[in-house]
Amino acid sequence: MIPVASSPTSSTPWKTPRKLFPGRVANAEAMSGSLRASCGRPDRLECMADDVRNVHEALSAITEHWQPHRLTSINDYDVKVVKLQGEFVWHTHPDTDELFLVVSGQLTIQLRDRDVVLDPNDVFVVPRGVEHCPKATEEVHAILFEPKGTVNTGDAGGDMTSDLRELS
Ligand code: NI
Repeated sequence: MIPVASSPTSSTPWKTPRKLFPGRVANAEAMSGSLRASCGRPDRLECMADDVRNVHEALSAITEHWQPHRLTSINDYDVKVVKLQGEFVWHTHPDTDELFLVVSGQLTIQLRDRDVVLDPNDVFVVPRGVEHCPKATEEVHAILFEPKGTVNTGDAGGDMTSDLRELS
């Protein structure tokens, strides 16, 4: 049996990152190291803003589809967790891009000229002003990055408009 030779390049845990820019899909797993950590407390969701938050625990606390909850904030942006199932509403955000990171499931972001299909760990940025409508045949868990005050239905309004909630 011939041993497999290791080389400096094959031993690195990093994959070559893809470029991130609006309108293209990137893979979060390929672009990040291990971010797993824990504050070691059973009441993790009640940690202060500068404590560790756990994405999966946050998602497990959510019971309503299309209802974003604030995971944390950075500068003037909110990082939101949300469960998605069914079809949302066509809308645009005239003043901001919107970042989707899929945690589990398969999310289709319908654009007027194509569908963008996101699998777990895929990241996609809908550029500002671009009309879009997320759709999930089966339940999707996702993270959103948006400026504070961004309304989920953008300029469309309607029944699916919901205020950002705090995790409890
Ligand atoms: Ni949107």
